[in-house]
Amino acid sequence: MNAPVIETRGLGRSFDSVAAVSDLTITLQVGDFFGLVGPDGAGKSTVIRLLCGLLSPTTGEGRILGFDLRRDVELIKSRIGYLSQSFTLYGDLTVNENIEFFAELHGVAGYQTRRDELLAFTRLAPFRTRLAQALSGGMKKKLALACALIHTPDLLLLDEPSTGVDPVSRGEFWLILKDLLSRGMTIIMTTPYMDEAERCDRIGLINRGTLIRLGTPDSIKSELNGRLFQVTGDSLSTIHQILRQRWSAASLVRYGDRLHFCTTHPDDKPNAIAWLRQNGLPDIQFTPTKPSLEDVFVALMSKPEQGEYL
Ligand SMILES: Nc1ncnc2c1ncn2[C@@H]1O[C@H](COP(=O)(O)OP(=O)(O)OP(=O)(O)O)[C@@H](O)[C@H]1O
Ligand SMILES: [Mg+2]
Repeated sequence: MNAPVIETRGLGRSFDSVAAVSDLTITLQVGDFFGLVGPDGAGKSTVIRLLCGLLSPTTGEGRILGFDLRRDVELIKSRIGYLSQSFTLYGDLTVNENIEFFAELHGVAGYQTRRDELLAFTRLAPFRTRLAQALSGGMKKKLALACALIHTPDLLLLDEPSTGVDPVSRGEFWLILKDLLSRGMTIIMTTPYMDEAERCDRIGLINRGTLIRLGTPDSIKSELNGRLFQVTGDSLSTIHQILRQRWSAASLVRYGDRLHFCTTHPDDKPNAIAWLRQNGLPDIQFTPTKPSLEDVFVALMSKPEQGEYL
């Protein structure tokens, strides 16, 4: 069996004694598609930068493609593709010239064939002479991805690749990632979007620098199986208000025209029905519903003491 592509143990990074990431232990095998999901400031970018060798760890250890994260930083950088959250393209260079720039940076000899391949792959070929600053947001992302792939890396690290990209370009970007995965690429990606996280093989939920869940989207969702109800009845706002008098924000989440009620105890449902009845709402339905990743995430995130609800 191949060595893991990413293997970290207790990896952490502090800034001025404040831990941005602590005790990160993950393993990715060849061809894995891993999503790191968490709110703003959770530590996602710090994890990615640690794994790229751009930040040195303050604790723990790690190997990327078999290379030591502390000792072999330059080797690691030469074998990975990194798309930073605020990636930099050269606006006054054309699409062609941007890729050329990154090819030279990585010392890729005879890069023209590879560039043509990538331009075809990202469907940017018709725009090869356009200045990068004149591209749409989605096209800029695709160009940044092409630049990150010019040296044929074995591992791709993407920091919020689809943030700020319109839905059509997002869809296109996903097709490109799928294609890369089908060719055996290993990808780790951060995202604030739950629908994107659902598409990953495995995900890690990160909050305040700590991985609080690690597993397949299904395994993480299964933690709420049998404990989540969709509440229906007239005036959801009133129902929500009344239930909030006795249950926390973490157990009651409103999604547009739906209200989800997450129970922590078998008596919660009959108690809630009785409480609504006492408050003049006798006909409220509680229907068991399949949890989404967002339900789990909200249940975890809205509690100061994580995990109280799960
Ligand atoms: N260079 C730095 N110096 C000091 N603090 C930092 C530095 N980089 C990150 N931090 C802090 O570490 C924590 C994690 O930041 P990070 O950028 O990794 O979060 P994130 O999950 O990527 O957030 P976002 O979703 O906003 O991109 C934050 O509290 C941030 O302020
Ligand atoms: Mg970030």
